[in-house]
Amino acid sequence: MENDAVIQIRNLTKIYRDFWGRKKVLALNSLSLDVNKGEIFGLLGPNGSGKTTTMKLLLGLLFPTDGKISILGKEASNVEKNERIGYLPEESYLYRFLNAEETLDFYGQLFDMPASQRREQTDRLIKSVGLDFARRRQLKEYSKGMTRRIGLAQALINDPELVLLDEPTSGLDPLGTRDMKDMILKLRDEGKTVVMCSHLLADVQDVCDRIAILYEGELKQLGRVDELLKEQDVTQLLTSRLDDAVVRDIEEVLKKHNAQLKSIDHPTNSLEDLFLKTVKESVERPGRRFLPDEAAQPDASEGNGQSPSESASQTPAESGEQTSQAESEKPDEAQPAS
Ligand SMILES: Nc1ncnc2c1ncn2[C@@H]1O[C@H](COP(=O)(O)OP(=O)(O)O)[C@@H](O)[C@H]1O
Ligand SMILES: [Mg+2]
Repeated sequence: MENDAVIQIRNLTKIYRDFWGRKKVLALNSLSLDVNKGEIFGLLGPNGSGKTTTMKLLLGLLFPTDGKISILGKEASNVEKNERIGYLPEESYLYRFLNAEETLDFYGQLFDMPASQRREQTDRLIKSVGLDFARRRQLKEYSKGMTRRIGLAQALINDPELVLLDEPTSGLDPLGTRDMKDMILKLRDEGKTVVMCSHLLADVQDVCDRIAILYEGELKQLGRVDELLKEQDVTQLLTSRLDDAVVRDIEEVLKKHNAQLKSIDHPTNSLEDLFLKTVKESVERPGRRFLPDEAAQPDASEGNGQSPSESASQTPAESGEQTSQAESEKPDEAQPAS
């Protein structure tokens, strides 16, 4: 076995039983995999494939029916090791009547951190997850995205070496998702090992070094994301724009080598790229709007009677309010907290 494995799972099986001890669900079937130090490992699979069950087994919150787990050199049932682990559960369980500062201070106390260290760590984490503007607001007033952010901060309060994130991007809009992914990448830069599970493919593809695909509790794929996605028997060339004559020449050359030109096209960006670019431009150039038909009379394209020239005179603050929830919540936070 590799020495740099932070987690070693061997033949892990979990059967959920009902009250009478009868077998109910085979949630994991003989799962074996390693997670290496310093990597971002993704557990991918549809709903009900056993991802959350795996996380809970790693934390010792559930007992395996069969198999072994070694995590940070300890058995999963050893709760001492949890002091070196951060966990973001799938569902929020935070106290709704505490604000961000109080929440992190409370969890700091659970780890016996002295007051000065708690203050420092709370301040640093609130800033690093982008919640400085809402630090004194009760969590019951938080949006889903803000709740996910404070959940991540809570998971990091003990400066863990290993971070387990259960569906970290669930319910987030594309901006929140990008932020969350960047925060996860930052954790790896800081030398932490991250295990995240998700059913959202794009999120996993962007951030994970290696992934496992689970289906009905069984491991179906395991490997590096770039290698799993590479089509080994196809070569892709990216060139500056070519005219038809050059393309014909290239076809001749390929024919000479018994190769075949399979497709020739202009590359497309992902919808995420387009969305993020559009939002960025909206912030930079407030008031600019896309009109369905540029040539049409301005008033004819609008049903609400507001002409594009009116919208173009919008102030940056007005249009800023529409860019993201986090942004729009800043202005009222400027009021002194009571
Ligand atoms: N406490 C439980 N009791 C009985 N069955 C459960 C329990 N928790 C999860 N399951 C079942 O185990 C399977 C795997 O669940 P889970 O690990 O939550 O999947 P995922 O996180 O991949 O969506 C599902 O069929 C689910 O219904
Ligand atoms: Mg789950």
